[in-house]
Amino acid sequence: MSATTNSEFNFKKIIAWGVLIAIGCVVFVLAMISIARMAKGDKQIDPEAVNQRIAPVATVMLAAPMAAGGGAARSGEQIYKASCAACHDSGVANAPKLGDKGAWAPRLALGLDGLLKSAIAGKNAMPPKGGSDASDTELASTIVYLANKSGGNFKEPAAK
Ligand code: HEC
Repeated sequence: MSATTNSEFNFKKIIAWGVLIAIGCVVFVLAMISIARMAKGDKQIDPEAVNQRIAPVATVMLAAPMAAGGGAARSGEQIYKASCAACHDSGVANAPKLGDKGAWAPRLALGLDGLLKSAIAGKNAMPPKGGSDASDTELASTIVYLANKSGGNFKEPAAK
């Protein structure tokens, strides 16, 4: 899987979600307005005032996914929280926990390259890439984040 197709795929997915969420917000606001109308006995509502009120929401909902979809790599912490925390926070299926130095010490000895290799391939109960859609560089940053919270001292990988 090349880095380009991967990030294009992410970009489309993020835009699709952004649009869905924006539509959801508009539908929600419209529903609220009609409920308010019924409650107030059809008193006229100033559409300009409504626009002003929903503007910040609409702007934030659209701006955030656009920024994220710009092709910039996500941080290790972001990916960890989205894709790894489910197992590595709780230690489910014997996953070495974030911050558990004892569990991580023998793994840290493999070095970042060794850990990256096994994380890409998957290991026992851990699916390939932890089931995430991270690029190799993003996955490496995520391992650095995880390892350095657990007694490691790895350097952030250079972006490819
Ligand atoms: C479904 C649960 C699960 C998820 C999700 C998961 N892991 Fe794991 N991970 C495990 C388990 C279980 C192990 C221990 C594997 C073993 O040594 O048997 C492990 C081990 C590891 C190791 C050590 C590998 C080694 O060679 O010792 C690294 C590094 C790692 N995970 C990184 C990640 C990263 C980064 C993510 C998110 C992108 C992630 N994991 C998501 C379950 C998970």
